[in-house]
Amino acid sequence: MRKLLIAISLLAFAGSAALADPVLDRQLLMKERGKVVGELVKVAKGEQAFDAAQVATALNALQVNAEKFDAEALFPAGSDTGDTTASPKIWEDMAGFKADADKFEADVKAAAAAPPADVDALKAQIGVLGSNCSTCHQTYRIKKG
Ligand code: HEC
Repeated sequence: MRKLLIAISLLAFAGSAALADPVLDRQLLMKERGKVVGELVKVAKGEQAFDAAQVATALNALQVNAEKFDAEALFPAGSDTGDTTASPKIWEDMAGFKADADKFEADVKAAAAAPPADVDALKAQIGVLGSNCSTCHQTYRIKKG
């Protein structure tokens, strides 16, 4: 029993350590974002049947994800090194970076508040949402070869 408790507390510690790493936190958040958008793109491409309820759920998940994005907490000073593709521009222009994040959040909220009724409406929404991803990535992310 004691061994088990030690193992569990070690696990808990590892978990909280991972949560305390802002680089991992933000990459996890972005991965989740990519996954949800990937699902929506499949529906938009017709690779998966359009299901209004499913699409609305995905948009809500994207909104929750966008609301969790706290630029200052996830990109503290000094977290520009290591296994990250965050560009130094983030820290040179935190206000611009936050503005991009706020714009994305506003667009996601608008989409979630008016979920699409058909594939064409979904395509239009993905166009708007996706342009946010590329705008921010182009400015604030470095491509790794
Ligand atoms: C406000 C800026 C911003 C917006 C908007 C944004 N991203 Fe990102 N994204 C970043 C930054 C910065 C990184 C690099 C994080 C790092 O490596 O530390 C990143 C990294 C990623 C990654 C790689 C994560 C990893 O495992 O390293 C994925 C996937 C991703 N973004 C998907 C998306 C998608 C999809 C959207 C749009 C729906 C989006 N992002 C919108 C800033 C943004």
